[in-house]
Amino acid sequence: MATKTATDLLNDAKRVLKLNDRKSWTVPAAGLYPHQWLWDSCFIAIGLRHLNIERAKTELTSLLRGQWQNGMLPNMIFDNDPAYRRDRQLWRSWLNPYAPDDVATSGITQPPMLAEAVVRIGEKLKLSERRSWYNSMYPSLVAYHEWIYGERDPHDEGLAVLLHPYESGLDNTPPWISELRKHSTPWWINLIERLRLDGLVNLFRRDTRHLPPGQRMSNIEAMAYWAALRRLRRKAYNSEAILSRSLFAVEDLGFNCILIRANTHLKQIAKTVAKPLPETLTTAMARTQTALEQLWDEDAGQYYYRSFVSRKLIQQTTIGTLLPLYAGTVSKERAAQLVSLLKHRNFFGASWPVPTVPLNSPYFDPYKYWQGPTWLNTNWLIVDGLRRYGFDKEVQLLSKRTLQLVANQGMGEYFNPLNGDPAGAADFSWTAALTIDLLKS
Ligand code: GLC
Repeated sequence: MATKTATDLLNDAKRVLKLNDRKSWTVPAAGLYPHQWLWDSCFIAIGLRHLNIERAKTELTSLLRGQWQNGMLPNMIFDNDPAYRRDRQLWRSWLNPYAPDDVATSGITQPPMLAEAVVRIGEKLKLSERRSWYNSMYPSLVAYHEWIYGERDPHDEGLAVLLHPYESGLDNTPPWISELRKHSTPWWINLIERLRLDGLVNLFRRDTRHLPPGQRMSNIEAMAYWAALRRLRRKAYNSEAILSRSLFAVEDLGFNCILIRANTHLKQIAKTVAKPLPETLTTAMARTQTALEQLWDEDAGQYYYRSFVSRKLIQQTTIGTLLPLYAGTVSKERAAQLVSLLKHRNFFGASWPVPTVPLNSPYFDPYKYWQGPTWLNTNWLIVDGLRRYGFDKEVQLLSKRTLQLVANQGMGEYFNPLNGDPAGAADFSWTAALTIDLLKS
C-alpha cells in the first residue's frame, strides 16, 4: 500500500473532526464516547486552531457551560438527549449545590490542559485579539486553578490529590490499579470474583459493547471503579468529606506535571491581560514546583505517584514517569535521565513509541488501553517537553514515528507499540487533532 502524503493525512484528520463535530463541541468518538470530555476538548482545540480559530475557541468556551460555581471543571458534560439518561443518572451532579442547573455533568475533573489550549489559540492571534481572548477565559481559568488548590490540596503541600482514577485521564494506569486492588475493592466484588459472576457486568458496560474486552479493564476493575464513583456520589462530590475517610486518593504524577505547566501558562495569560493573580494562588503554584521533588525516588532515578493516605511512593513506572519533561521545571540532568528511559529498549524504546507502560513492566499488554498502547496525546506532551529542553533529535524522531503510525494505521484511539495495530475506537478526535498539530509544527 502506498504511504499517505502529508496532505492525505491532513485530509483524513479533518474528516474525523468533521465526523465528530457536534456544532459547538466535539465528541471523542461517535458511539463509544457520546459526550464532551474536558481534556479531549483541549487537545481537539489545539488541532482545530489550525483549521478554524473561531471553532477552536468555541470548543473551549463550550467547556465552561459545565463549570461548577466553585470553579470545578468536570471531566464530562453530558449530551442532553433522552438516550443518555442513564449516564446522567449515574453521576447525578445535581446532588452538589455548586453544579450547574441547566446541564448535567460528572462530579470529578481531568488533567488541567485548559490553560495550554487557551495559549495555543492565543499564539495564532494578533496581540489585541489575544488580549480579548485571554480576558474572556481568565476568570474561569483562575477559578479552576483556585478550586484545584482549595479543594484538592488540603494540607497546602502543593500536590493536587485525585479522588478517582478517571481524574487522571489514564483510567487504568498501574499506580491506580494497584491502589484499587490494595484499598478499594469491596467484599461483595471479591465474592463476585470468586463466584466468577463478573461476566454479568458486560450488560452494563458501553466500552465492551464496542470493543474487544482484552483492550479494556477487567469487569472486576470496572466494578470497583463504579463502586468508587458511588462513594463519591454518596458524599455529593464534596472533596473534604470524601478525603476525611477515603483510602483511595492519589497524588497523581501526570496530573501534577500538567498542573505545573498550566500554572506557567496562567501566569503568562495574567501578564498579557495585566491582571495580577490572587496571591494565595501564586503561593500555591510556587509550592507545586518544589513539591514535585517529593515524588522523586533517588534510588530508582524516577518520579512516582504517591498515595495520599500512606504517604508512600507507588513504585510503578508508567507514561507518567516521562511527564516531568512536559512540566518543564525539573533540572536538565533529571530531564536527561528521563530521556534515557525513553530510549531504553527495555523501557519506552518500542518500535512505535511511546508505550504507556514500559515494555519490561509486569502490567505491559500491547492492546490494553493505558497499560501499554501508544497514545497520541501522551506523545504530544512528551514532544512538547523534549522541545523545550532542547532534545531536538528526539523531537524529530518521535514526531516522525507518530505521524508514520497514523499514516499507516489511521486515526485510532490507541496503538499497539510493538506492531502499530490500531485499537480502541476508530476515528478518534484527539488523534486527528494532534496529528494536525504535529504536521503543522
Ligand atoms: C477514556 C480515556 C480518557 C478520555 C475519555 C474520552 O476514558 O481514558 O482519558 O478522556 O476516554 O476520550
